[in-house]
Amino acid sequence: MKNILLLGSGGRECALAWKLSQSPLCGTFFIAPGNAGTAEYGINLPISYNDFEAIGKACLEYKIDIIIPGPEDPLVLGIYDFIKNTPALRHIIVAGPSKAGAQLEGSKAFSKKFMERHNIPTASYHEYTKDSFEQGVAYIKRSDMPIVIKADGLAAGKGVVIAQNAIEAVKAFRAMVMDEQFGEASSKVVIEQFLDGIELSVFAFTDGTNYVLLPEAKDYKRIGEGDKGLNTGGMGAISPVPFADNEFMLKVTERIVVPTITGLKKEDIFYQGFIFFGLIKVNGDPYVIEYNCRLGDPETEVVIPRLENDLVEMILKMEEGKLDEVVVQHSAKAAGAVMLVSEGYPGHYEKGMEMTGFDSVKGSLLFHAGTATKDGAVVTNGGRVLAITSYGEDIGQALDKSYENASIVNYKGKYYRKDIGWEFSK
Ligand code: AMP
Ligand code: GLY
Repeated sequence: MKNILLLGSGGRECALAWKLSQSPLCGTFFIAPGNAGTAEYGINLPISYNDFEAIGKACLEYKIDIIIPGPEDPLVLGIYDFIKNTPALRHIIVAGPSKAGAQLEGSKAFSKKFMERHNIPTASYHEYTKDSFEQGVAYIKRSDMPIVIKADGLAAGKGVVIAQNAIEAVKAFRAMVMDEQFGEASSKVVIEQFLDGIELSVFAFTDGTNYVLLPEAKDYKRIGEGDKGLNTGGMGAISPVPFADNEFMLKVTERIVVPTITGLKKEDIFYQGFIFFGLIKVNGDPYVIEYNCRLGDPETEVVIPRLENDLVEMILKMEEGKLDEVVVQHSAKAAGAVMLVSEGYPGHYEKGMEMTGFDSVKGSLLFHAGTATKDGAVVTNGGRVLAITSYGEDIGQALDKSYENASIVNYKGKYYRKDIGWEFSK
């Protein structure tokens, strides 16, 4: 039995908590800081997932054997290196990459150069700073539109602008690099070619040499129906993705997954744990839009329910470098998740709205995202509030069930998209 500490507080972590707590290998299970949903599966600790000192103390106090970082921040900040460089903590398994490996997500410029070195298909690009601002403007002016402007570092999902014309592009570029819109994170900017296609998320779990693929997923990022309006953390997800057939996935594996894992190894960049490939299919071929060093949210809320293997056992195999011994079993059933959010999200929204109806939900899994407990009641505590996941014979059936239950859970200001999976359900 292994004592486990899961870091994070969103729907992804709730889905992971649900899964991990079912493992016969799971000993005492903690989540830092967790939410009202994770508290059903383990013990929430009031610790920020970026507070390494406090995490280290908790690891000693609770004799933690495995740490699973949910979000990117602790990974990019170097939780792996912190644990491995602290003698009293070194024995702990960290299911995530080193700080150097997390740069795949932490720096767009790093990941673009990495892909270039290993011939991994991605949009063509150039990199600029304050000093090369004029060259950047000239590059925009001679490029085809639309064009994509990206802050190099982490910008809470807001660092990407798809500009329709050169005026918009220069405005976004200037705001990032000259006006330091995202501080240090936009001191460097990547300007890249716009790829026109359909996106999907592919997840590998690796020990640095071997890897397994988890079920693929597609998320719906825009706030409005028909993929309109502002970008959000994700309004829903489906798995499997109908266009990710064997032929396409073979291309993904050969052109992207394998060169990424072997490339990291060749460059002596220590990487274990999840790699999230944000891909786009253009004329039948896959291109990398971005790498993430973690699982996706809300993709995890459909991927993890479709994973039939014991995740703790997989983590132990990762640690031994024996993931080649694991055969991943994907459920034959489809899964569909609908995210309930707070009115106003992704802009300003209120918190603390009492939530009702949980007991009347039948046939779905409820993965809390932004919730808390207050005076014995569950209240909203974030923009994305609750992921409702259901299984079905196909995506349409899964989503019908999620929508049935989305109408049952209530709180003031509830909003959700009614068209998740619209391209694929009847
Ligand atoms: P990222 O943070 O890199 O995932 O970008 C956020 C979103 O912007 C992606 O999920 C895509 O929808 C879009 N995007 C980013 N880069 C490109 C690109 N080169 N071509 C088309 N869309 C893109
Ligand atoms: N759903 C996209 C992400 O987790 O980055």
